[in-house]
Amino acid sequence: MSDEIAKLEGPDLAQGVALSSLAEGAILLGHAQGEPLILVRRGDELFAIGAVCTHYSGPLAQGLLVDDTVRCPWHHACFSLRTGEALRAPALNPVACWRVEQRDGKAFVREKLANASQERRSATSGMPQSVVIVGGGAAGNAAAETLRREGYSGRLTMLSADESAPYDRPNLSKNYLAGSASEDWIPLRSPEFYKDQDIDLKLGALVIAIDTQNRQVKLADGCHHAYDALLLATGAEPVRLTLPGGDLPRVHYLRTLADSRALVARALVSKRAVVIGASFIGLEVAASLRARNIDVHVVGLETCPMEKVLGAEVGNFIRKLHEEHGVTFHLGTTATSIDERSVTLKSGDNIPADLVVVGVGVRPAIALAEQAGLAIDRGVTVNEYLETSIPGIFAAGDIARWPDHLTAERIRVEHWVVAQRQGQTAARNILGQRERFDAVPFFWTEQYDFGLAYVGHAERFDKTAIEGQLDARNCTITYRRNGQKLAVAVIHRDLEGLHAELEFERTIAAREAQSAHLIGSP
Ligand SMILES: Cc1cc2nc3c(=O)[nH]c(=O)nc-3n(C[C@H](O)[C@H](O)[C@H](O)COP(=O)(O)OP(=O)(O)OC[C@H]3O[C@@H](n4cnc5c(N)ncnc54)[C@H](O)[C@@H]3O)c2cc1C
Ligand code: FES
Repeated sequence: MSDEIAKLEGPDLAQGVALSSLAEGAILLGHAQGEPLILVRRGDELFAIGAVCTHYSGPLAQGLLVDDTVRCPWHHACFSLRTGEALRAPALNPVACWRVEQRDGKAFVREKLANASQERRSATSGMPQSVVIVGGGAAGNAAAETLRREGYSGRLTMLSADESAPYDRPNLSKNYLAGSASEDWIPLRSPEFYKDQDIDLKLGALVIAIDTQNRQVKLADGCHHAYDALLLATGAEPVRLTLPGGDLPRVHYLRTLADSRALVARALVSKRAVVIGASFIGLEVAASLRARNIDVHVVGLETCPMEKVLGAEVGNFIRKLHEEHGVTFHLGTTATSIDERSVTLKSGDNIPADLVVVGVGVRPAIALAEQAGLAIDRGVTVNEYLETSIPGIFAAGDIARWPDHLTAERIRVEHWVVAQRQGQTAARNILGQRERFDAVPFFWTEQYDFGLAYVGHAERFDKTAIEGQLDARNCTITYRRNGQKLAVAVIHRDLEGLHAELEFERTIAAREAQSAHLIGSP
């Protein structure tokens, strides 16, 4: 116990701090009753909440205050200062709240407030009697949780083709694969959670058809589930290589926990790996396999890894990073065959390999949506409320193509946080709340000790500007098209990433206000 207290930083806020030392908009890190917390002044009000983000333990003291919320610097979760509620994914759990007393020119943190999480609304008439969610990934899980959090008390069924309950997919190519995270880190929730929340989670439940007339879904085992409202959150599937040897057991893909387990098992007995694909998954896998001391060769069609997404300078930096960690690149080429011992490239090179990992992109899993006759446009077309072309059917996550307010284009992205936030918004819209999905896309990547966070969406850009020093891993990269700022990437500048998100949000809000004004004007 004394060790824990010794680790706590800042003042003991139970002893009180001078009000004059609490600047408006500043975050004071301290502790009370043996727990780290932050004390914040907003106008005349003072708030004390837990200092540790409930996602991956990010330091909220280094986050950004926006109105009566604080945003986490690592992956942009957002917590209410008033209730501690996790308002935005990726955090799913609230932080604790304490009562703050002002007396004699000082602020004292008093007792922890009970049930400091969220207010639950109670379900009202007009809500669907039953909701079916197809998919137990980021979007599906977030939707199920949100439905219950919003007070939905009707029947709630989550059907997932996966054999595992919802888990932390981004970790599968990072710490879990590298061997630095054990499997008990991976589930998003315990099995009891779904029971307690009365979420009927069915695993290994492959939905093969939607009967939109009779409002029911059909499973591969012949079962049917009726719905009043349906959420499709079927995610994406890895693109498969069709080349000689492509189906050998040593050739792995990575989407599911089972895939990652199989990859770990193979990695334990491998010395040499070939990774086909030099994008995020491929490069994260390469880094994790290097952590296991496996000799890694990366094969990619592009001449500069990640150039299309992050620009040539960052791409070259990432290549160098991997080379410094012992990775060999074979770029501008592709694999033509795989055999028991090696991978042969178009260039004629032959690379010995005990293990091959293919990460050449994913395709949205839209077969069900197509069968149901939903409007499709390189994904499932949804409106700003994430509703598909058939009323009562919503779509979220990797499959959804939505009208993005920043670019004024319909976009589809494959990001964890976006999928979760869409799940949350879709859930509220299933309950009739008419909430627009206008979150700014966010993703992150981790390779070795290098991390990059990306805010916004620049599918195409014609100008990049780097402010700071890329080599020193301290910079902000801005992506523009036709002069318009579309995205910002930050390296070791978490707070700038949060400011960029806020700036994009304000741009979107201003545009929405302007178009509402135009519509309203005679
Ligand atoms: C290894 C890996 C690492 C990643 N790392 C990052 C990262 O660092 N940062 C980031 O932003 N993003 C990352 N991503 C992307 C992120 O995980 C996805 O964008 C996100 O999971 C999409 O969520 P989703 O709910 O749309 O789909 P998924 O999470 O894929 O879930 C889809 C669900 O639908 C189920 N399903 C599919 N079809 C059916 C059917 N017919 N019937 C029943 N169930 C069905 C599946 O079994 C699954 O449960 C990573 C992805 C992978 C694979
Ligand atoms: S650690 Fe806070 S959002 Fe991930």
